Amino acid sequence: MDSNYQLPPFSIGWYAIAETSDLEKESVISKTFAGQEIVIFKTNTGKIGVIDAFCKHMGAHLGKGGKVKGECLVCPFHGFEFNTNGICVQSGYQTEVDAKMNGKKWPVKVDQGLIFCYYHPDGIEPSWEPEIPKYSNNTEFRWHSWIMKSNVIDIFENTVDLGHFQYVHKYDETYAVDPLNLEDHVLKTKYGIHRKGKFVGTKAVDAKFSLHLQGPGLAVIQANVDPMELESYHLILPRPIDENTIELKIGASMKNIQSARKLHPLAGLIPKFLLNKIVFNILFREFVKDVGMDQEIWENKIYVHPPLLAKGDGPILQYRKWAQQFDHSLAN
Ligand code: FES
Ligand SMILES: [Fe+2]
Repeated sequence: MDSNYQLPPFSIGWYAIAETSDLEKESVISKTFAGQEIVIFKTNTGKIGVIDAFCKHMGAHLGKGGKVKGECLVCPFHGFEFNTNGICVQSGYQTEVDAKMNGKKWPVKVDQGLIFCYYHPDGIEPSWEPEIPKYSNNTEFRWHSWIMKSNVIDIFENTVDLGHFQYVHKYDETYAVDPLNLEDHVLKTKYGIHRKGKFVGTKAVDAKFSLHLQGPGLAVIQANVDPMELESYHLILPRPIDENTIELKIGASMKNIQSARKLHPLAGLIPKFLLNKIVFNILFREFVKDVGMDQEIWENKIYVHPPLLAKGDGPILQYRKWAQQFDHSLAN
């Protein structure tokens, strides 16, 4: 690895750009994604299309006044119509149009209510797709997001930065359970933490986290708090907006509580649905607080490469080597 390596502003990968619930049928929304303006629209039959926002005809923004009609997005300026593949099917005067009018179509995958879009600077099609496990007997996912100054690669580096868990997140102990397992765009590992008190009632927390990164835009984490038999699922979804800014969206869901007594001797007195709700509220609040603790560091740090590591740091170098596959400039 070169010394003084700096992160690219945008990394190749799938990113969650919206939720399907953000879009009514026959509607369109606009986003800035990896420095480009895009529109996301849902057709009458529920198909999702993501295309460049600026109409090739004379440059109007398709998301600003554009309307979805049937299976097409109609430009607000002269009424040219684009389907979900970006193909301009006719002009506003029902005449044929040149294929040059077609807009750029972005690869899309919808998984469990999340709309993922693939970024590659050369527009190369993806060789893999993101996959979120199908959980059952769990609460609905709840979401929180921040817009912040950071780079997506820095966000996931913290997931293997065992040292910062103690210092920033105040875990009393952090240890690796499974080593890093790297395969193509996937990084997997498992670690454990111990934190004194303060979770539910006054119990200490001993938790295990199984981490599954899929490129630079999706982390799936399963957390198990053994003494209480709590199991929860966490998604971390950073998305590049422009060269300096990302959206960091996080979501969590909790497996319905199996044994109320393990949680607290009196918890069995509370109706199950209410207990799930109460515990999930606490869990989600703690999750948002935990991730939020990193924000000031992310927004103000510089990228030091190679890092000057010490015993007790996590597998930072392996992570960085893995992450460099998403840097287009290194592939050439
Ligand atoms: S600018 Fe879009 S139809 Fe003319
Ligand atoms: Fe952190």
